[in-house]
Amino acid sequence: MSFTSFPAGGNPSPGSPIGDAPLTKVTMPALLEMKRQGKPISSLTAYDYSTSRLADEAGIDLILVGDSLAQVVLGHDNTLAVTVDEMLHHTRAVRRAVRRALVVADMPFGSYHASVADGVANAIRFIKEAGAEAVKVEGPRVELVRALSEAEIPVVAHLGLTPQSVLRMGGYRVQARTAETVLQLKADAMALADAGAGAVVLEGVPREVAAAITAELPIPTIGIGAGPDCDGQILVFHDLVNLTFAAPAKFVRRYGDAGALIRTAIEHYREDVEHRAFPSDEESYHLAPAVRQALRTEATQETGALRKA
Ligand code: KIV
Repeated sequence: MSFTSFPAGGNPSPGSPIGDAPLTKVTMPALLEMKRQGKPISSLTAYDYSTSRLADEAGIDLILVGDSLAQVVLGHDNTLAVTVDEMLHHTRAVRRAVRRALVVADMPFGSYHASVADGVANAIRFIKEAGAEAVKVEGPRVELVRALSEAEIPVVAHLGLTPQSVLRMGGYRVQARTAETVLQLKADAMALADAGAGAVVLEGVPREVAAAITAELPIPTIGIGAGPDCDGQILVFHDLVNLTFAAPAKFVRRYGDAGALIRTAIEHYREDVEHRAFPSDEESYHLAPAVRQALRTEATQETGALRKA
């Protein structure tokens, strides 16, 4: 157990761009308004308290508890293994940290694939038990999106390269490269918007395709590997700060090197422990002088008594 102060909720951290300004909560309708006003939507994945708190305080509009946590947090090869309970656990941690951003929970593989009823029941768990404000589902699941909307659950759809389809796709490949698949993607996006989706993630599609869908669609598009013309962008947090231990995809821009920072800090700590340079006297707790004196006196008396005996 650490004594380190780590207050939950409360005021923004010192130096945060949000500062003391009154917070306007980002909601699903607010994203639509941003699209209308041509204001780009910033989105990022996060999976725990500290990073989501930093993302929120940095002014990110939408925080996705992505099923990418299966890979970047839990070390699986793909996203298929992560469970509803694991996603709920991480969504709760994010929810506790976030005050302003819209918190979206990714529905994991298997949680909506067997039936629409399953999908609605699991989505309700994300809202009720974890405090998510929307859920995200992959693929053109129009009936599911309609049922979720009718159940008052805001939905973010996800089209293009959908990682939960990795086995069917036979790998991660840029989608919608032929005229036929471009038209299908557009039709799917329109159908999802008609069914009540509040936004759609477009992943791994050519820039021209994402631009055309963004121009036509009444709801915001959020791109990842889909070029700069979407209404918003999303990246995986671990990609952004180099915590992925692999060469990044073409669309990733590294904004920091947390991998190097953390590795160096841990190495210095280990060296200091090995050289007894940590902790210092200043980093230690001390007895009050009166207690030290009392203990010294007692020790002296004990030694005297032993000598006499
Ligand atoms: O799980 C995830 O991180 C995602 C984003 C890539 C959109 O679905």
